[in-house]
Amino acid sequence: MKNQTTYYSLKDFELSLNLSATERAEEFQKYINQLAQFGYESYWIKSYSGIGAKMKLSQDREVISFVSNDYLGMSQRTETIQAGISALTMYGTGACAAQVIGGYIDIHEQLEREISDFTGQEDAILFSSGFGANAGVLNALLGKNDIAIIDPFIHTSALSGLKGTNVKRIGHNNLEHLETVLKDVQDKYLTKLVIIDGVYSQDGDLSRLPEIINLCQRYGAMLMMDDAHGIGVMGVNGRGTAEHFDCLGKVDIISGTFSKAFGCVGGFVASSKKLIQYLKYYADSNVFSAAITPQVTASILKSLELIRNMPEIRHKLWDNVNYLRKNLTLNGFDIGKSLSPIFPIMIRDNNKVYEVANLLQKSGIFTVGIVYPAVRIKEARIRVSILATHEKQHLDQLVNALIEINKNINFISNGESIKNTQKATY
Ligand SMILES: Cc1ncc(COP(=O)(O)O)c(C=O)c1O
Repeated sequence: MKNQTTYYSLKDFELSLNLSATERAEEFQKYINQLAQFGYESYWIKSYSGIGAKMKLSQDREVISFVSNDYLGMSQRTETIQAGISALTMYGTGACAAQVIGGYIDIHEQLEREISDFTGQEDAILFSSGFGANAGVLNALLGKNDIAIIDPFIHTSALSGLKGTNVKRIGHNNLEHLETVLKDVQDKYLTKLVIIDGVYSQDGDLSRLPEIINLCQRYGAMLMMDDAHGIGVMGVNGRGTAEHFDCLGKVDIISGTFSKAFGCVGGFVASSKKLIQYLKYYADSNVFSAAITPQVTASILKSLELIRNMPEIRHKLWDNVNYLRKNLTLNGFDIGKSLSPIFPIMIRDNNKVYEVANLLQKSGIFTVGIVYPAVRIKEARIRVSILATHEKQHLDQLVNALIEINKNINFISNGESIKNTQKATY
């Protein structure tokens, strides 16, 4: 370790001008040693079972898990598994070609149609990950004469699509700042694309979508919303953050993933017919990559059918979310501005985060610590994701364990607790 009070973070081993790749990899051992010294065992942990409300950390040790984003429990349902098996039998294990050159099967087309309808857009293109969707669409659309105006909390996958263009960061959800920038760039770039998330993945708060749509329209900018955590979850019918805000059809580009509420893997971009047609020839992560597999496509289609036809699954999720919110806030825990199934439990100290995560794990609860540089040190937290498949008893166990741990570590008093009693009701 550096010394008693200074610790290594992942930031210390990023690309640097002074060290070669091999030297950096050698140096990185210091970080791994430090984790071992803290006894932190949550990264690259192995599960011996599917990962949902529970997971097995060894053949005979099952813990309650709060790390999966399988919000509706779709990954473990008989219907989605059977749909995948049928597609395997019918199509085989892979399409084994990019869609543009022959790897495009009928159920891909069906999924494009259904996901574009669900998100209120004209058309859609599929990707084999949500990461690829964001990176691919942005690589294709923005060049040196264009500008991306971004919320600082958008996902890394979107940032990775912005390397060849101009970027301006605004304050998080800061409408005044956005307006100033939109005015400033109005005549300077060919494409002005504002990029936001529907639901932000670290804080679980929502974008100020209606106001942002208005500003984009007023200043002639396009709007892209990554709704990875909103699709299937937000809105009366689970159609996402646009439905939640009654803005379906008003966002130019919606991207999303099938790895969360759909319980599978893969991603999509939904937009106008013309734009999707363009992306089908220029989005590199689609055009130069093998198509999403048949069994995954069929399982996603089944998830979508269940999302549409079984609202009771989503109601159970929201019942759980509102129950946990009430109990965490009643007991003084700071959950920031979360309005979704993602709860940050603020600890505000990297090392205490490791300690709390370790103690939770010892009491049979698996969570993940989010520390610098993923968030600022003063915003270090445990992040929990709530699923429809959690039982009330799991949520009670989490709150009770946190209360006990806080008696020893005293992390509640680390920051000003924001009293968050807002909730989304459908
Ligand atoms: C906001 C957001 N966008 C995109 C992604 C990438 O999705 P995928 O896991 O399908 O690559 C994630 C995944 O964590 C995410 O949280």
